[in-house]
Amino acid sequence: MFRILSTASALPQCRKTNDDLSTFLDTSDEWISQRTGIRERAVCTNESLTELLSAAGRQALERAGLRADQLDLILCATIRGDYITPSQACIIQKELGASCPAMDISAACTGFMYALDVAAGYFARKKVRYVLVLAGDTMSRLVNWQDRSTCVLFGDAAGAVILGEGDALRSILLTADGNIDVLNVPHSGGNSPFDTLPQQESFLKMNGQEVYKFAVSSMCRDVKEACRQAEIEPEQLDWLVPHQANLRIIESAAHKLKIPMERCLTGIEHLGNSSAASIPVVLDQANTQGKLKKGDLLALTAFGAGLTTGAGVIEW
Ligand code: ACO
Repeated sequence: MFRILSTASALPQCRKTNDDLSTFLDTSDEWISQRTGIRERAVCTNESLTELLSAAGRQALERAGLRADQLDLILCATIRGDYITPSQACIIQKELGASCPAMDISAACTGFMYALDVAAGYFARKKVRYVLVLAGDTMSRLVNWQDRSTCVLFGDAAGAVILGEGDALRSILLTADGNIDVLNVPHSGGNSPFDTLPQQESFLKMNGQEVYKFAVSSMCRDVKEACRQAEIEPEQLDWLVPHQANLRIIESAAHKLKIPMERCLTGIEHLGNSSAASIPVVLDQANTQGKLKKGDLLALTAFGAGLTTGAGVIEW
């Protein structure tokens, strides 16, 4: 179906450490780092999501040795683009000077996995030769900076991969279990004089402990199933590439899967939870550091609002 031709990522310039946050929030470096592994995160100031995604998209094209007009499809995983409409993918298509179809995919932190599966369908139908998959969120603009239980967890980032024809995708699976209570960000706005629905604040709300339990159990279940479909054992994986929400979640899932932490890609210490971007960003960091070798077997696994999950095995 496909193989990954290139990876890329972009982060905002401004970094905020846990100590920086404790200057205006009742929190501490000790609380945040012990419970989550996060020490700092990149936060947008004057950057738009469009700027981050365009930078990642341009870099991915350059590294793949492709021009924008060679792209057959652009998919963008995000929970909130810079505009409600047009889609973020259409905005990036214009920024890059591409002319192919473009669409957004909304599956929260699982968005990158959903986008890979959609892309796999296009390759299977032989509709495409080159697909740009983007993933990015500016979570700092969706959290309530007066709510210490959520705002300390997130960061902003964008990641990208270019997919080309190949047979590196060994398996991929998605799940959804509709649930608004555990994790949501309501819409706000509009000025209809006829609207009688109550206005809600557009901030992220989360039941952290429920997400924690769901995350560990779903990652273990999905990685085992993705490996079964790829006809390998989890122990044969060279790399586990988990969504970066909390280092404790990653450690717990890796332990249950009997995968040592040395074989897990992590970036949460410096990134926080960057939602859909987290997997492509850590993938790009490992790739540019030369950690990934041809033939390595990677299991990607993510969970997020929805509740959604996705996992897949890819040969590098
Ligand atoms: N600093 C200091 N104290 C805090 C902070 C903070 N930033 N936040 C909460 N506390 C306090 C609470 O008020 C509470 O105090 P109390 O006992 O006096 O009431 C205490 O710390 C414990 O709070 P809990 O919420 O029980 O803390 P917990 O150990 O569950 O850790 C955490 C919270 C880190 C959020 C954890 O539940 C977690 O990681 N859950 C998963 C979250 C996650 O993965 N989110 C990503 C979802 S988004 C996505 O990826 C789609």
